Amino acid sequence: MKKKRILSGMRPTGAMHLGHFFGALGNWVKMQDEYETFYMVADWHAMTTLYDKTSDMAGIRSSADDMVADWLACGIDTSKSCIFRQSDVPAHSELFLILSMVTPLGWLQRCPTYKEQLKEIKNHDIGTFGFLGYPVLQAADILLYRAHCVPVGEDQLPHLEITREIARRFNHLYPIPDKVFPEPKALLTKSPRLLGTDGRKMSKSYGNAVNLSDDEKTTAKKISRMITDPERIHKDDAGHPDVCSVFSYWKAIPGEKNKEITSDCKNASIGCVACKKLLAEEINLLLLPVREARKKISPEEVHSALESGAQKARAEAAETMVIVRDSIKI
Ligand code: TRP
Ligand code: SF4
Repeated sequence: MKKKRILSGMRPTGAMHLGHFFGALGNWVKMQDEYETFYMVADWHAMTTLYDKTSDMAGIRSSADDMVADWLACGIDTSKSCIFRQSDVPAHSELFLILSMVTPLGWLQRCPTYKEQLKEIKNHDIGTFGFLGYPVLQAADILLYRAHCVPVGEDQLPHLEITREIARRFNHLYPIPDKVFPEPKALLTKSPRLLGTDGRKMSKSYGNAVNLSDDEKTTAKKISRMITDPERIHKDDAGHPDVCSVFSYWKAIPGEKNKEITSDCKNASIGCVACKKLLAEEINLLLLPVREARKKISPEEVHSALESGAQKARAEAAETMVIVRDSIKI
Protein backbone atom coordinates (compact mmCIF):
# COMPACT_ATOMS: atom_id res chain seq x y z
CA MET A 1 0.00 0.00 0.00
CA LYS A 2 1.17 3.48 -0.78
CA LYS A 3 2.27 5.46 2.25
CA LYS A 4 0.23 8.49 3.19
CA ARG A 5 1.95 11.76 2.63
CA ILE A 6 2.68 14.39 5.24
CA LEU A 7 4.04 17.89 4.94
CA SER A 8 5.14 20.18 7.69
CA GLY A 9 7.22 23.31 7.96
CA MET A 10 9.08 25.59 10.31
CA ARG A 11 10.06 29.21 10.02
CA PRO A 12 13.80 29.90 10.08
CA THR A 13 13.61 32.87 12.43
CA GLY A 14 16.24 31.80 14.94
CA ALA A 15 17.74 28.95 16.87
CA MET A 16 15.81 25.72 17.34
CA HIS A 17 14.65 25.32 20.90
CA LEU A 18 13.40 22.68 23.30
CA GLY A 19 9.82 23.30 22.25
CA HIS A 20 10.73 22.13 18.75
CA PHE A 21 12.75 19.20 20.06
CA PHE A 22 10.00 17.79 22.27
CA GLY A 23 7.22 18.86 19.97
CA ALA A 24 7.48 18.94 16.22
CA LEU A 25 10.96 17.59 15.58
CA GLY A 26 10.66 14.49 17.74
CA ASN A 27 7.46 13.67 15.92
CA TRP A 28 8.94 14.37 12.49
CA VAL A 29 11.72 11.90 13.16
CA LYS A 30 9.29 9.19 14.25
CA MET A 31 7.01 9.67 11.25
CA GLN A 32 9.68 9.11 8.63
CA ASP A 33 9.06 5.38 8.41
CA GLU A 34 5.30 5.34 8.41
CA TYR A 35 4.70 8.22 6.00
CA GLU A 36 6.10 9.80 2.91
CA THR A 37 7.51 12.92 4.54
CA PHE A 38 8.08 16.44 3.25
CA TYR A 39 9.72 18.88 5.66
CA MET A 40 9.92 22.47 4.60
CA VAL A 41 11.88 25.55 5.63
CA ALA A 42 9.19 28.24 5.56
CA ASP A 43 11.43 31.17 4.65
CA TRP A 44 8.72 33.23 2.96
CA HIS A 45 6.62 32.81 6.09
CA ALA A 46 9.54 34.19 8.08
CA MET A 47 9.49 37.23 5.85
CA THR A 48 5.89 38.06 6.83
CA THR A 49 7.07 39.19 10.26
CA LEU A 50 10.68 40.17 9.53
CA TYR A 51 10.31 42.08 6.29
CA ASP A 52 11.02 45.49 7.84
CA LYS A 53 14.03 44.38 9.87
CA THR A 54 16.77 44.24 7.32
CA SER A 55 19.31 42.70 9.69
CA ASP A 56 16.90 39.86 10.51
CA MET A 57 16.08 39.40 6.84
CA ALA A 58 19.78 39.01 6.14
CA GLY A 59 19.80 36.22 8.72
CA ILE A 60 17.00 34.14 7.21
CA ARG A 61 19.28 32.21 4.88
CA SER A 62 21.82 31.35 7.54
CA SER A 63 19.07 30.55 10.05
CA ALA A 64 17.64 28.18 7.47
CA ASP A 65 20.99 26.42 7.14
CA ASP A 66 21.37 26.20 10.92
CA MET A 67 17.85 24.93 11.29
CA VAL A 68 18.36 22.19 8.71
CA ALA A 69 21.62 21.18 10.42
CA ASP A 70 19.61 20.86 13.66
CA TRP A 71 17.02 18.73 11.84
CA LEU A 72 19.73 16.40 10.59
CA ALA A 73 21.32 16.23 14.04
CA CYS A 74 17.98 15.29 15.57
CA GLY A 75 17.58 12.41 13.13
CA ILE A 76 15.80 13.68 10.03
CA ASP A 77 17.17 11.38 7.35
CA THR A 78 17.42 12.59 3.77
CA SER A 79 17.09 9.06 2.43
CA LYS A 80 13.61 8.97 3.95
CA SER A 81 12.45 12.60 3.96
CA CYS A 82 12.37 15.35 1.38
CA ILE A 83 13.67 18.47 3.09
CA PHE A 84 13.52 21.66 1.13
CA ARG A 85 13.25 25.42 1.25
CA GLN A 86 9.93 26.99 0.33
CA SER A 87 11.61 29.71 -1.74
CA ASP A 88 13.37 27.07 -3.84
CA VAL A 89 9.97 26.00 -5.18
CA PRO A 90 8.36 28.99 -6.93
CA ALA A 91 5.10 27.06 -7.39
CA HIS A 92 4.27 27.88 -3.74
CA SER A 93 3.80 31.48 -4.78
CA GLU A 94 1.71 30.61 -7.84
CA LEU A 95 -0.63 28.41 -5.83
CA PHE A 96 -0.75 31.06 -3.08
CA LEU A 97 -1.95 33.57 -5.66
CA ILE A 98 -4.62 31.27 -7.03
CA LEU A 99 -5.85 30.25 -3.58
CA SER A 100 -5.97 33.88 -2.48
CA MET A 101 -8.58 34.46 -5.20
CA VAL A 102 -11.02 32.09 -3.52
CA THR A 103 -10.30 32.92 0.13
CA PRO A 104 -12.80 35.27 1.78
CA LEU A 105 -11.17 38.07 3.77
CA GLY A 106 -13.30 37.28 6.81
CA TRP A 107 -11.70 33.84 7.25
CA LEU A 108 -8.31 35.53 7.59
CA GLN A 109 -9.43 38.46 9.72
CA ARG A 110 -11.14 36.12 12.18
CA CYS A 111 -8.15 33.78 12.45
CA PRO A 112 -7.18 33.60 16.16
CA THR A 113 -3.43 33.46 15.50
CA TYR A 114 -3.71 36.61 13.42
CA LYS A 115 -5.58 38.48 16.13
CA GLU A 116 -3.17 37.28 18.80
CA GLN A 117 -0.07 38.32 16.85
CA LEU A 118 -1.49 41.73 16.10
CA LYS A 119 -1.76 42.22 19.86
CA GLU A 120 1.59 40.64 20.79
CA ILE A 121 3.88 42.10 18.16
CA LYS A 122 4.12 45.77 18.99
CA ASN A 123 7.64 46.66 17.94
CA HIS A 124 6.94 46.73 14.24
CA ASP A 125 4.16 46.97 11.71
CA ILE A 126 2.58 43.69 10.68
CA GLY A 127 -0.49 45.33 9.21
CA THR A 128 0.41 44.01 5.77
CA PHE A 129 -1.42 42.08 3.10
CA GLY A 130 1.23 39.36 3.29
CA PHE A 131 0.81 38.86 7.01
CA LEU A 132 -2.95 38.66 6.74
CA GLY A 133 -2.43 36.10 3.99
CA TYR A 134 -0.08 33.94 6.08
CA PRO A 135 -2.60 31.08 6.34
CA VAL A 136 -3.20 31.15 2.58
CA LEU A 137 0.50 30.68 1.94
CA GLN A 138 0.47 27.85 4.45
CA ALA A 139 -2.49 26.30 2.65
CA ALA A 140 -0.51 26.52 -0.59
CA ASP A 141 2.44 24.74 1.08
CA ILE A 142 0.23 21.86 2.12
CA LEU A 143 -2.06 21.57 -0.91
CA LEU A 144 0.80 21.83 -3.39
CA TYR A 145 1.94 18.38 -2.25
CA ARG A 146 -1.62 17.12 -1.79
CA ALA A 147 -0.61 16.06 1.71
CA HIS A 148 -3.03 13.86 3.64
CA CYS A 149 -1.81 14.88 7.06
CA VAL A 150 0.04 17.76 8.65
CA PRO A 151 1.86 17.26 11.93
CA VAL A 152 1.50 20.47 13.89
CA GLY A 153 1.25 21.85 17.37
CA GLU A 154 -2.02 23.09 18.77
CA ASP A 155 -1.23 26.68 17.87
CA GLN A 156 -1.40 25.81 14.17
CA LEU A 157 -4.88 24.28 14.23
CA PRO A 158 -6.60 27.45 13.03
CA HIS A 159 -4.30 27.49 9.99
CA LEU A 160 -5.12 23.87 9.27
CA GLU A 161 -8.81 24.64 9.51
CA ILE A 162 -8.42 27.46 6.99
CA THR A 163 -6.44 25.12 4.73
CA ARG A 164 -9.27 22.60 4.80
CA GLU A 165 -11.83 25.30 4.08
CA ILE A 166 -9.81 26.59 1.16
CA ALA A 167 -9.41 23.06 -0.23
CA ARG A 168 -13.15 22.46 0.09
CA ARG A 169 -13.95 25.75 -1.58
CA PHE A 170 -11.55 25.14 -4.43
CA ASN A 171 -12.84 21.60 -5.01
CA HIS A 172 -16.40 22.93 -4.99
CA LEU A 173 -15.77 25.85 -7.35
CA TYR A 174 -13.71 23.91 -9.88
CA PRO A 175 -15.05 20.39 -9.82
CA ILE A 176 -13.09 17.99 -11.92
CA PRO A 177 -13.77 14.24 -11.88
CA ASP A 178 -11.22 13.55 -9.16
CA LYS A 179 -11.30 16.34 -6.62
CA VAL A 180 -8.10 18.30 -6.80
CA PHE A 181 -7.12 18.59 -3.18
CA PRO A 182 -7.53 16.12 -0.34
CA GLU A 183 -8.62 17.90 2.84
CA PRO A 184 -5.55 17.55 5.03
CA LYS A 185 -5.90 16.37 8.62
CA ALA A 186 -3.89 17.74 11.50
CA LEU A 187 -1.75 15.21 13.33
CA LEU A 188 -1.53 16.82 16.73
CA THR A 189 1.87 16.59 18.32
CA LYS A 190 1.24 14.65 21.50
CA SER A 191 3.78 16.15 23.85
CA PRO A 192 2.46 19.01 25.95
CA ARG A 193 3.11 22.56 24.97
CA LEU A 194 6.27 23.83 26.62
CA LEU A 195 6.20 27.15 28.37
CA GLY A 196 9.03 29.61 27.94
CA THR A 197 11.35 30.58 30.77
CA ASP A 198 9.09 33.55 31.55
CA GLY A 199 5.94 31.41 31.76
CA ARG A 200 4.55 32.52 28.39
CA LYS A 201 4.40 30.17 25.41
CA MET A 202 7.93 29.25 24.32
CA SER A 203 8.61 31.16 21.17
CA LYS A 204 11.50 32.51 19.20
CA SER A 205 9.70 35.81 18.93
CA TYR A 206 9.33 36.18 22.71
CA GLY A 207 13.01 35.44 23.39
CA ASN A 208 12.19 33.03 26.23
CA ALA A 209 13.47 29.76 24.81
CA VAL A 210 16.08 27.18 25.80
CA ASN A 211 17.93 26.58 22.53
CA LEU A 212 19.30 23.29 21.24
CA SER A 213 22.56 25.09 20.55
CA ASP A 214 22.89 26.34 24.16
CA ASP A 215 25.70 24.60 26.00
CA GLU A 216 25.09 22.61 29.17
CA LYS A 217 25.88 25.50 31.49
CA THR A 218 23.62 27.95 29.68
CA THR A 219 20.85 25.36 29.70
CA ALA A 220 21.19 24.88 33.46
CA LYS A 221 21.32 28.63 34.05
CA LYS A 222 18.21 29.34 32.00
CA ILE A 223 16.31 26.58 33.77
CA SER A 224 17.44 27.76 37.20
CA ARG A 225 15.90 31.15 36.52
CA MET A 226 12.50 29.86 35.54
CA ILE A 227 9.47 30.86 37.52
CA THR A 228 7.70 28.03 39.33
CA ASP A 229 4.40 27.61 41.14
CA PRO A 230 3.75 31.19 42.34
CA GLU A 231 1.92 29.97 45.44
CA ARG A 232 4.85 27.93 46.64
CA ILE A 233 6.72 30.48 48.72
CA HIS A 234 8.40 28.27 51.31
CA LYS A 235 10.07 24.98 50.61
CA ASP A 236 7.60 23.15 52.84
CA ASP A 237 4.54 24.57 51.04
CA ALA A 238 2.88 21.94 48.88
CA GLY A 239 3.51 22.63 45.19
CA HIS A 240 1.10 22.52 42.25
CA PRO A 241 2.92 20.96 39.31
CA ASP A 242 0.01 21.69 36.98
CA VAL A 243 0.54 25.44 37.18
CA CYS A 244 4.35 25.27 37.16
CA SER A 245 6.27 25.99 33.94
CA VAL A 246 9.14 23.81 35.08
CA PHE A 247 6.78 20.91 35.28
CA SER A 248 5.70 21.38 31.66
CA TYR A 249 9.27 20.31 30.83
CA TRP A 250 9.14 17.29 33.10
CA LYS A 251 6.00 16.16 31.34
CA ALA A 252 7.79 16.32 27.99
CA ILE A 253 10.66 14.08 29.10
CA PRO A 254 10.10 10.44 28.24
CA GLY A 255 9.91 7.98 31.11
CA GLU A 256 8.39 7.89 34.56
CA LYS A 257 10.40 10.59 36.34
CA ASN A 258 7.59 13.11 36.09
CA LYS A 259 5.42 10.90 38.30
CA GLU A 260 8.03 11.02 41.05
CA ILE A 261 8.36 14.78 40.68
CA THR A 262 4.60 15.19 40.87
CA SER A 263 4.32 13.47 44.21
CA ASP A 264 7.54 14.94 45.61
CA CYS A 265 6.34 18.40 44.65
CA LYS A 266 2.84 17.92 46.03
CA ASN A 267 4.07 16.66 49.39
CA ALA A 268 6.86 19.21 49.50
CA SER A 269 9.66 16.68 49.69
CA ILE A 270 11.55 18.36 46.87
CA GLY A 271 12.38 22.05 46.61
CA CYS A 272 12.17 24.01 43.39
CA VAL A 273 15.91 24.64 43.24
CA ALA A 274 16.66 20.92 43.41
CA CYS A 275 13.84 20.14 41.00
CA LYS A 276 15.27 22.52 38.42
CA LYS A 277 18.77 21.18 38.87
CA LEU A 278 17.54 17.64 38.23
CA LEU A 279 15.61 18.81 35.21
CA ALA A 280 18.66 20.53 33.72
CA GLU A 281 20.62 17.31 34.11
CA GLU A 282 17.91 15.30 32.36
CA ILE A 283 17.68 17.75 29.49
CA ASN A 284 21.43 17.92 29.04
CA LEU A 285 21.53 14.14 28.92
CA LEU A 286 18.82 14.00 26.27
CA LEU A 287 20.52 16.65 24.16
CA LEU A 288 23.99 15.14 24.38
CA PRO A 289 23.69 12.92 21.25
CA VAL A 290 22.10 15.77 19.30
CA ARG A 291 24.87 18.15 20.29
CA GLU A 292 27.50 15.58 19.30
CA ALA A 293 25.85 14.88 15.94
CA ARG A 294 25.46 18.57 15.28
CA LYS A 295 29.21 19.17 15.53
CA LYS A 296 29.81 16.72 12.68
CA ILE A 297 27.37 18.23 10.17
CA SER A 298 29.10 20.34 7.53
CA PRO A 299 27.62 23.24 5.54
CA GLU A 300 28.12 21.12 2.40
CA GLU A 301 25.94 18.39 3.81
CA VAL A 302 23.19 20.89 4.52
CA HIS A 303 23.43 22.43 1.06
CA SER A 304 23.35 19.15 -0.76
CA ALA A 305 20.35 18.00 1.32
CA LEU A 306 18.49 21.19 0.38
CA GLU A 307 19.53 20.93 -3.25
CA SER A 308 18.25 17.40 -3.78
CA GLY A 309 15.17 18.15 -1.66
CA ALA A 310 14.35 21.13 -3.87
CA GLN A 311 14.55 19.00 -7.00
CA LYS A 312 12.15 16.43 -5.66
CA ALA A 313 9.77 19.06 -4.28
CA ARG A 314 9.72 20.97 -7.58
CA ALA A 315 8.83 17.81 -9.47
CA GLU A 316 5.93 17.03 -7.10
CA ALA A 317 4.75 20.62 -7.18
CA ALA A 318 4.81 20.69 -10.98
CA GLU A 319 2.42 17.74 -11.12
CA THR A 320 -0.08 19.44 -8.86
CA MET A 321 0.13 22.71 -10.76
CA VAL A 322 -0.77 20.98 -14.04
CA ILE A 323 -3.97 19.73 -12.41
CA VAL A 324 -4.68 23.10 -10.79
CA ARG A 325 -4.25 25.08 -14.01
CA ASP A 326 -6.40 22.55 -15.78
CA SER A 327 -9.17 22.80 -13.22
CA ILE A 328 -9.32 26.62 -13.29
CA LYS A 329 -9.05 26.57 -17.09
CA ILE A 330 -6.23 29.06 -17.22
N1 TRP B 1 3.08 28.34 10.29
C1 TRP B 1 3.98 27.29 10.71
C2 TRP B 1 4.60 27.69 12.04
O1 TRP B 1 4.73 28.82 12.33
C3 TRP B 1 5.05 27.01 9.71
C4 TRP B 1 4.50 26.48 8.43
C5 TRP B 1 4.56 27.07 7.22
C6 TRP B 1 3.86 25.22 8.23
N2 TRP B 1 3.99 26.31 6.27
C7 TRP B 1 3.54 25.15 6.85
C8 TRP B 1 3.50 24.18 9.08
C9 TRP B 1 2.86 24.06 6.31
C10 TRP B 1 2.81 23.07 8.54
C11 TRP B 1 2.51 23.03 7.16
O2 TRP B 1 5.03 26.83 12.77
FE1 SF4 C 1 7.58 23.29 39.91
FE2 SF4 C 1 9.39 21.45 40.57
FE3 SF4 C 1 8.92 23.53 42.16
FE4 SF4 C 1 7.10 21.64 41.90
S1 SF4 C 1 9.14 21.39 42.77
S2 SF4 C 1 6.70 23.83 41.87
S3 SF4 C 1 7.35 21.07 39.76
S4 SF4 C 1 9.78 23.59 40.14
